[in-house]
Amino acid sequence: MSNQGVPVLILKEGSSRSRGKDAQHTNIMAARIISEAVRSSLGPKGMDKMLVDSLGDVTITSDGRTILDEIDVEHPAAKMMVEVAKTQDDEVGDGTTTSVIVAGELLNKAEELLKKNVHPTVVIDGYRRAADKALETLENIAIPVEATDREALKKVAMTSMASKLVAENREELAEIAVDSILHVAEKVGDEYRADLDDILVEKKPGESVTDTKLIKGIVLDKEVVHPGMPKRVEKAKVALLDTALEVEKTEFDAKINIETPEQMEAFLQEEENMLRNMVDKIGKAGANVLICQKGIDDMVQHFLARKGILTVRRAKKSDMEKLSKATGGKVVTNLEDMTEDDLGYAELVEERKIGDDKMTFIEGCKNPKSVAILVRGGTERIVDEAERSIHDALCVVRDVVREPKILVGGGSPEVEVARSLREYAETLPGREQLAVQSFAEAMEIVPVTLGENAGLDPIDIASDLRARHEKGEKWAGVDVYEGNVKNMEKLEVYEPLAVKKQIIKSATEAASMILKIDDVIASGKMKAPPMPPGGAGGMPPGYGGMPPGY
Ligand SMILES: Nc1ncnc2c1ncn2[C@@H]1O[C@H](COP(=O)(O)OP(=O)(O)O)[C@@H](O)[C@H]1O
Ligand SMILES: [Mg+2]
Repeated sequence: MSNQGVPVLILKEGSSRSRGKDAQHTNIMAARIISEAVRSSLGPKGMDKMLVDSLGDVTITSDGRTILDEIDVEHPAAKMMVEVAKTQDDEVGDGTTTSVIVAGELLNKAEELLKKNVHPTVVIDGYRRAADKALETLENIAIPVEATDREALKKVAMTSMASKLVAENREELAEIAVDSILHVAEKVGDEYRADLDDILVEKKPGESVTDTKLIKGIVLDKEVVHPGMPKRVEKAKVALLDTALEVEKTEFDAKINIETPEQMEAFLQEEENMLRNMVDKIGKAGANVLICQKGIDDMVQHFLARKGILTVRRAKKSDMEKLSKATGGKVVTNLEDMTEDDLGYAELVEERKIGDDKMTFIEGCKNPKSVAILVRGGTERIVDEAERSIHDALCVVRDVVREPKILVGGGSPEVEVARSLREYAETLPGREQLAVQSFAEAMEIVPVTLGENAGLDPIDIASDLRARHEKGEKWAGVDVYEGNVKNMEKLEVYEPLAVKKQIIKSATEAASMILKIDDVIASGKMKAPPMPPGGAGGMPPGYGGMPPGY
């Protein structure tokens, strides 16, 4: 308002603005709705979700990131929670659901403090201190292992798959994950490095998950282009090409006047010569296998077949990079430049029938480190979920190889962190103490949710766990199968330290970021989430694209 009481408009019409406590409350609520949505899928007893996209495609999963990727979220604070899952997945590959749940609970506890008139910056500061302390505690209780200790790695992989659709087959899949990572791992100084990019994962519905195989080489989901070509080439010299083997079409409409049959003949002859030339170049370089990223003209296919060159076309760009690394060949852009030096080498290139389709296997590559996993499973949805589970398993094994320290799962490290935070809080002055205590309580959401999903009473579980940890049982956690509190080390539930550390980091960061906002200015159509009866606790139906009762 100006002095005379005339409103001064600075925002465009249709913009909305909410400020102060209102803005905070709405943001916290939107974020919590997201964390509530994934809660029921945490842990081995968690439920799966069936997600249907706008085209009617169905995904069945319990993977936090996948769930959040598939649901269309509109509220900006809710979007930030989706980002938490993404960061967690990109950094360490597992713990996505947990990080979102912890972030949601940190916000829930923060709101209680805000209601008691604790200023948001005090909460944020307290949370930051608590997070530092939590990371320290995790480091202290972590169990060091050998980076190449197969047994330990396998247990970590098995824990990551305990909560998946493919849990039944986790033993075989864990073996494959450990084998592949150890195969591509490299020792640099005192440390090991393993890059997931060196492992090609290809899926094909059919047979069952137990038929998933590790291949020492590369698999392409492509068949040999021409029936006249060999289907098997030993001692293969592999040309990798990323241009089309076709006569280029002009960009403009061009007109050629052909007046006599001879001219027509000459024109066609010229075109054929150009195509024949291309094949000659490849032949001259000495290749007997050609993998092309683009299309290949029918006539070129025919010429290649006559030369006995096994050819695959329209390979994925990412696969071309892996092929280049595996075979030692160079991806050639200009055919004119191709020489023998550009060719890669593999002991065997062969087309094999897998299910109803044909796939091309490139084995015994020059670089023995390249591996591929061919994922199988009864239906497309099972194969998809198997692939996601293998991705998680590969990630956790890599995490431990990189930073060889593990923690025991089942919510036990979270309770231990909470215990040490309560001790730490005692040393702090008034309001910050409250924030650290709230952080400690928020950590307990992990065992509580694991228990709830197994049908246990959350209050019993929480008090039982607190009591045991006070007595020094640092690995007391929730045995979701027996339905009680147990020493989780005995159950061999192991997880990478890196995953647990990242959960604390991503969740604290997201919660702080949301708490810092006290003014939301939106141009146009952003909708505020409707208020559920009784405040922020419940789930408003129909919000943000989630079906009622989600
Ligand atoms: N056998 C088990 N008993 C109890 N808890 C388990 C067991 N296996 C895994 N967990 C716990 O389940 C949680 C992970 O669940 P998951 O659904 O994979 O979520 P996230 O996406 O966070 O990884 C971890 O806290 C882990 O310790
Ligand atoms: Mg997991």
